Amino acid sequence: MSGLHAAIIMDGNGRWAVSRGKSRTAGHLAGADAVRRTVEAAPGLGIDILTLYAFSSDNWRRPPEEVGALMRLLRRYLMAETGRCVENGVRVQVIGRRDRLASSLVREIESAERATARGQKLWLRIAVDYSARDAILRAALRLSRGLDAEQSGVQGEVASPSGQISRQDFSRLVAECPEERAHDVDLLIRTGGEKRLSDFLLWECAYAELIFTDRMWPDFGHADLDEAVLEFRRRERRFGTVPAAAGAAKSGKAAISAVRDRSGHARPDPEIAAVAMP
Ligand code: FPP
Repeated sequence: MSGLHAAIIMDGNGRWAVSRGKSRTAGHLAGADAVRRTVEAAPGLGIDILTLYAFSSDNWRRPPEEVGALMRLLRRYLMAETGRCVENGVRVQVIGRRDRLASSLVREIESAERATARGQKLWLRIAVDYSARDAILRAALRLSRGLDAEQSGVQGEVASPSGQISRQDFSRLVAECPEERAHDVDLLIRTGGEKRLSDFLLWECAYAELIFTDRMWPDFGHADLDEAVLEFRRRERRFGTVPAAAGAAKSGKAAISAVRDRSGHARPDPEIAAVAMP
């Protein structure tokens, strides 16, 4: 994985539909087509991780018919697209809670994840019943249990002999992928004209470039993703340092506490930022 991690808040399905005299469900249906277009376009634009916000933990508050329609749509999407994902090297993973999802949907998720596990071209992460604050809270709880276990002599999940936790280790806990490298978001796109994060990937977006577009999600396509990536590439990511050339000229050395990230940009060294636990 050496490309970009793009994350998308797919907003505007309801307004797109209502403005056309259609039901909100029709908007979500059109939104699923936009998901297909985006998944197809992403690898060609240098994106190798794509995280899509399909259903937030707060979305359970929507009318039951809309929740039901969204859940059916997710299941149908997985059923219809898994074969194509295997052919195209797309690894599918669903993030978020599973204990409140219907068992038929959980089975479909597990089967899609198993079938696509070897995909190397794009890692497609679909957030369902997802809350970033809950993910951070769960990570903190698991950390404190791990440290408790360590203190009592039992090897904990993230036991660290010095009682320290690095940002990289905590990122793995937040992402709930202990065996893999956790990846920060490079660019976050939100469609539909609103400008907020809505409890999506709050830890992972610490240094994400934020791109907001008025385009409603069902209208989003290859050209919009291309434009967002171009805008991202025009931005200078400094991660708290000074511009490389100016910094090097002033101090004689460039960005002392920064390392290069997957996109070749400077970023803070997570190991430097280890935090001691009380
Ligand atoms: C927000 O728009 C969108 C959602 C809550 C659902 C997103 C779902 C999809 C795009 C389709 C299914 C997903 C996959 C991965 C197949 P909104 O309904 O809040 O729009 P509004 O702000 O205009 O009301």
